[in-house]
Amino acid sequence: MHTFHRLDDLRQYRQNVARVAFVPTMGNLHAGHLALMRAAREHADTVIASVFVNRLQFGPGEDFERYPRTLRADSEKLADAGVDALFAPDEGELYPEPQTCFVEPPDLQHLLEGEFRPGHFRGVATVVLKLFNCVQPQAAIFGKKDYQQWMLIRLMTRQLALPIEIVGMETVRAPDGLALSSRNAYLSPVERAEAPRLYQTLRELKEAVLREGVEHSAALQQEARQNLDKHGWETDYLAVRQQSDLQAPSFATQQLVIVAAARLGATRLIDNLEIG
Ligand code: PAJ
Repeated sequence: MHTFHRLDDLRQYRQNVARVAFVPTMGNLHAGHLALMRAAREHADTVIASVFVNRLQFGPGEDFERYPRTLRADSEKLADAGVDALFAPDEGELYPEPQTCFVEPPDLQHLLEGEFRPGHFRGVATVVLKLFNCVQPQAAIFGKKDYQQWMLIRLMTRQLALPIEIVGMETVRAPDGLALSSRNAYLSPVERAEAPRLYQTLRELKEAVLREGVEHSAALQQEARQNLDKHGWETDYLAVRQQSDLQAPSFATQQLVIVAAARLGATRLIDNLEIG
């Protein structure tokens, strides 16, 4: 596997390969990331991954400083997964001057995650567009675990006419249902044992919505939230929304998604579950 820390070196390599599938990450790779690498292989002969912890998408008081940085181990995992090239710039390489140009996503950026992480999706969209311009892929693979991120990247790609196919991958979970996440590393053993309740709660809520009807979803989501509260979670949001725009469901809607973010101690976990 080639490793490029410098953009010039990546660009030179890029000139000599045809079709590229790209998987951007912030590192501390787990089986969820590696599933994206395998999927990438189906979309191009050359797979490029990036590892870059993007300061722009972290708010003040978030975990930018303590975000796990494990480049050596990540690099081994990527090589084992058959990735052709890793782009791992340092901050000065990707942001040689203060970034004052941004991608401003539409209002969807202010809902749900955006309400609790102001500016987050602006930072994500900006770095993803920048990485797209560095790597120039024909396809890019994203996890639907970060549902709102996946939606916004598709929207940006479509509206800015980027010649890139955006592929969404299902969430990879631990055997007990917990969605794999780099942030799971922050959980104490006791918190780790409690953490699967988030997905369990989403599954129960999904069954309840299917049983009782979407018109009861507001009351049902309130009960689900109380269940988490009772077990020591602090829930930022837990909501039944339309897949199309993440707004509260209009009665006719069939395509729904339950999205949630909740904190267990100092760790913030997100998850979602589609209905229909
Ligand atoms: P990161 O959290 O490292 O995630 C990189 C990619 O892996 C994202 O597309 C994410 O949705 C996907 N992913 C994470 N956990 C997953 C799981 N359990 N199953 C399937 N896919 C999973 O998302 C980011 O980085 C950043 O915001 C980034 C897009 C790289 C921009 O900085």
